[in-house]
Amino acid sequence: MTIDTTDTLTTRLACETLDAADPLAAFRDRFELPEGVIYLDGNSLGALPKATAERVHDVVTREWGVGLIRSWNDAGWFDKPRTLGERIAPLIGAGPGEVVIGDSTSASLFQVAIAAARLRPGRRVIVSERDNFPTDLYMLESVQELLGDANGALERRLIHADGPSLDEVLDQDVAVVVLTHVNYRTGRMYDMAEVTRKVHEAGALMVWDLCHSVGAVPVDLNGAHADFAIGCTYKYLNGGPGSPSFIWVAERHHAAAHPPLSGWHGHARPFDFGVDYAPSAGITRFRVGTPQLLSMAGLEASLELWDEVDMTQVRAKSLRLTDLFISLVDSRLAPWGVEVVTPREHAVRGSQVALRVDDGYPVMQALIERGVIGDFRAPDLMRFGFTPLYVSHADVWDAVAILEDILATESWRAERFSRRGAVT
Ligand SMILES: Cc1ncc(COP(=O)(O)O)c(C=O)c1O
Repeated sequence: MTIDTTDTLTTRLACETLDAADPLAAFRDRFELPEGVIYLDGNSLGALPKATAERVHDVVTREWGVGLIRSWNDAGWFDKPRTLGERIAPLIGAGPGEVVIGDSTSASLFQVAIAAARLRPGRRVIVSERDNFPTDLYMLESVQELLGDANGALERRLIHADGPSLDEVLDQDVAVVVLTHVNYRTGRMYDMAEVTRKVHEAGALMVWDLCHSVGAVPVDLNGAHADFAIGCTYKYLNGGPGSPSFIWVAERHHAAAHPPLSGWHGHARPFDFGVDYAPSAGITRFRVGTPQLLSMAGLEASLELWDEVDMTQVRAKSLRLTDLFISLVDSRLAPWGVEVVTPREHAVRGSQVALRVDDGYPVMQALIERGVIGDFRAPDLMRFGFTPLYVSHADVWDAVAILEDILATESWRAERFSRRGAVT
């Protein structure tokens, strides 16, 4: 069913009809969402699954409080980064034994970017893009410095829509290309298989950042023959604030991969307490030290839910929600010069929509005060994430109606909406 957004009398009804037929609708009840809130920021921090508090409580009181040190074996603590990795694998097209839980996404990127570059000795260039999430670029600066020889750092080439393009920068000097699959600001999505193919054609290796992809769009890393990937679990996966990253390495690279952080949890025999480092045989060589078990408890609870999710249904609903949002913005918000920045073509759209709005910051604060939570990315983008497990079509309708009211009444001009917090 499609929605005619020009028919303002029947459209909300049409949204409700779509919600009634939504195969994912029942998942909404599995989340704690505050009354009166339309949450469109699951692309930044996912909502709280109802099962999480009990799981975290159980880890604290029973596994830690009663089990004490015995839980490293009895509750499977030591192996948790691997066992949780196995549960993320189906969401990203990974095979068994290819995914492990890491530290922060930034730290995990460092692990895989250096491991990848070391597999291409003699090549002196790392490619990324100017619009990548800044932490990726910052971490790559360190990678360059550390791997640079006596003549200085490796060369960094940054692609951009205004040039140079990927085709222009790829040559036999490129060791690694690091790109984010779905852009954090615009929601533009790369063709993973096609980009990876080009990178391989140049003899380089491909690292994907999946922060805005995992749980948002179907991902097939092995289908794309990618080499390395990392991603966070606190956005669409709903693992909770500070839940750890994941690392994927194609099995064909395991034996030769040499990550820079050689901690004891990545050792082949950590409890031998030997003097020399010997990496474990598979993906667990990308582990570093003691895992964040309390944070992992939140992730474990949310993965219970993901075990039941069909990503084809998630993608279909995500496109319906974003299509609906875009068409409502086009038809109702044009008088205020609101511009949709996110691509309209399905093949290159993730699960978020960015709007360019003059005074986007105070407008977003006014929206949040009215219960519609999105976020703002300087200088002028209002971001809205559409998480099919708990956002309904009627939510989208209501969110645009409230935004229209805020723009029409100019209520956003109130002085309190211009005060900036540390996090936008
Ligand atoms: C593409 C991308 N990479 C990395 C990060 C964050 O990394 P970390 O988990 O280390 O804070 C984000 C955060 O939003 C992101 O959007």
